[in-house]
Amino acid sequence: MRRAAVLTSVLLSVTLAASPVSAAPAAHPGAAGLGDPYFPLDGNGGYDAKHYDLDVRYAPETDVLTGVTTIRARATESLTSFNLDFDGMTIRAVTVDGHPARWSRAGQELTVTPRRSLRRNTAFITKVTYDGIPKKIVDPDLGDGGAFTTDDGVVILGEPDVAAAWFPSNDHPLDKASYTIKVTAPKGLEAISNGTLAGRSTRSGWTTWTWEQPEPMASYLATASIGEFGLTTYRKNGIFFLDAIDPKLDPELAANARASFAREPEFLRFMAGVFGPYPFKAAGGLVDSQGEWGYALETQGRPIYTPGDFGDREGGDSVVVHELAHQWYGDSVALARWSDIWLNEGFASYAEWLWSEHEGLGTAQENFDQSYSRAATSSFWKIKVADPGAPNIFSGAVYDRGAMTLHALRLAVGDAKFFRILRTWAQQNRGGNVTTAMFIAHAEKISGRQLDGLFTTWLYTAAKPSQVPSRQVT
Ligand code: ARG
Ligand code: ZN
Repeated sequence: MRRAAVLTSVLLSVTLAASPVSAAPAAHPGAAGLGDPYFPLDGNGGYDAKHYDLDVRYAPETDVLTGVTTIRARATESLTSFNLDFDGMTIRAVTVDGHPARWSRAGQELTVTPRRSLRRNTAFITKVTYDGIPKKIVDPDLGDGGAFTTDDGVVILGEPDVAAAWFPSNDHPLDKASYTIKVTAPKGLEAISNGTLAGRSTRSGWTTWTWEQPEPMASYLATASIGEFGLTTYRKNGIFFLDAIDPKLDPELAANARASFAREPEFLRFMAGVFGPYPFKAAGGLVDSQGEWGYALETQGRPIYTPGDFGDREGGDSVVVHELAHQWYGDSVALARWSDIWLNEGFASYAEWLWSEHEGLGTAQENFDQSYSRAATSSFWKIKVADPGAPNIFSGAVYDRGAMTLHALRLAVGDAKFFRILRTWAQQNRGGNVTTAMFIAHAEKISGRQLDGLFTTWLYTAAKPSQVPSRQVT
């Protein structure tokens, strides 16, 4: 599923320019990347993935994952070959529409050459059979992603890089798809993934857990966690909740995690009141007793946390609010390119400020004031929030100055228009992809104000803004 026209049209015009004006473009290899300014090889050109069927078995004793990934896609160009992103593992077979296909690998690029060229606008099915030990993708700037082995299983997560470590995909948020994820693990362990639990069956000592994620999902938000987990499942306000807590988690942290997880329906109700209806059918959270990856992540419908997130009650609530806010901003409304990451992190951080105010803790204004009080000489102000540079996409400024930008917007346009901007942004772009330019245009349209100056100052200037808009009373 591809909603943003921006990058697609760039690729399209390159293709057109390269071919004679009148003739239909001849079949050619699909591009090896989607042109992301920070991660140019992430994703691939020439097709639109519609649905992934992941069927993976994981043996904690050997760490070996055995997988079959089936991808339904549509060719958007006439293709002699196309790429998938896949990093590590051993490929045993590749078929396209049931016929064996040739394939080659170079770094994270898997190039598949079907027996016959794919015609533009036709649907095709790719099936990749593979096995091996899924890797950990080590990145000293962004933090590690991929497969993290635990005492009794594995946790698979990462941002932006994780999908390629365990299944071949069009690995960029621009090409979202629905997923069916089947995870098979030794009987007695839990195998937790995205969405709703559609079935569970045991055969010769292995249990297969089938998860359905029907709403479009970016590849980095797909996850699988295997291990011993205590599960709490219930249905509330039409949402399927499933929480998973490792029984080996330290009792004090576990008590806090349980308490924060128990408030998920309350968090979602509060945020739905501000952002509009929750975008998914499923919700919940997962915490393992280990957390070497060192961050919480908004894996779609069911974020993953670390033990350290639950050191105290208020902190735990705040992290859970943050990850659940991402379900609107980041997951449902996804990036078209990674340089716009503040559209995820600034919004989720601002949700924490709104929650804090709602709880009678610090107000959003107090949180803003505290962030703004950083000295002008601090390196914090040197990051351009809407173009932080690839190694800095998770720098503190993307979060805090991102949230401050929203607060500055709120002060400038007044509460009524500000909250209309937030809500309509989530609802109009539900399931789609967005850019900062789209957000600025949207804020200007809803507010009827020219806001270039404000956004240039807050998002694109590597210095502390010298003044804060004065509050509009509405
Ligand atoms: N998006 C995550 C959050 O909610 C942060 C992920 C940090 N990722 C990383 N690779 N270090 O804040
Ligand atoms: Zn976040």
